[in-house]
Amino acid sequence: VVAEAIAGRRDETFLVSKVLPSNASRAGVRRACENSLKRLATDRIDLYLLHWPGSVPLTETVEAFEALKAAGKIRHWGVSNFDTDEMEELVSLRDGGNVQTNQVLYNLSRRGPEFDLAPWSRERGIPLMAYSPVEQGALARNARLEAIAARHNVTAAQIALAWVMAQEGVIAIPKASRQEHVRQNASALDIKLTPEDFADFDRAFPPPTRKRGLEMI
Ligand SMILES: NC(=O)c1ccc[n+]([C@@H]2O[C@H](COP(=O)([O-])OP(=O)(O)OC[C@H]3O[C@@H](n4cnc5c(N)ncnc54)[C@H](OP(=O)(O)O)[C@@H]3O)[C@@H](O)[C@H]2O)c1
Repeated sequence: VVAEAIAGRRDETFLVSKVLPSNASRAGVRRACENSLKRLATDRIDLYLLHWPGSVPLTETVEAFEALKAAGKIRHWGVSNFDTDEMEELVSLRDGGNVQTNQVLYNLSRRGPEFDLAPWSRERGIPLMAYSPVEQGALARNARLEAIAARHNVTAAQIALAWVMAQEGVIAIPKASRQEHVRQNASALDIKLTPEDFADFDRAFPPPTRKRGLEMI
């Protein structure tokens, strides 16, 4: 589907893909990437992520990513579902500091990363990529968000996205298959949240007061 969607407009696209931990060895990463390139009908992936931490030593995966970069098969690499201790380990490795992002579950109902992962990443200039930013659609039906959204004449999904994108150093990747949702999500960039909104968000979805393990969907 993605190959079809980007055909003839590759240069307008920022293409992100992921490699499973079971393919994270030196040879496995190369093979998985080649297969993805074939399926995507392109010659490069802009950002290639390790899907979650696994049993292959990270040094090996980082070496494999760097080799793919040198060969022009990927432009950047990053990780996904890495908690703070795992990021600490990663950046201590040779070339580990080349990590470009960490894709994690983060939205109003999953604020755990704000306790330490988000500040840690911000200090090092590593953006967090928030996946499931509308909690797989659940936040689009949230009555408390609808009340905040009504003040801006937008939908609950849009206000949930605006909140994620208002966090410094955070990118959101909503999935939408309906065109109307894609348009709404793009225009959520224009929503200007107020201090009153932020106070209401915190009342409805309190920020974390202690460390919680990173959640995954
Ligand atoms: N790294 C990881 O381990 C990991 C894990 C899970 C997901 N992800 C990534 O995160 C991306 C998004 O996550 P997700 O699909 O789990 O959850 P999501 O983006 O929070 O939610 C997607 C759902 O929300 C609906 N939606 C989107 N925009 C809406 C709007 N404006 N109004 C009402 N409903 C709206 C979609 O409906 P329609 O489709 O009908 O438009 C879809 O049902 C995926 O593309 C996936 O690649 C990564």
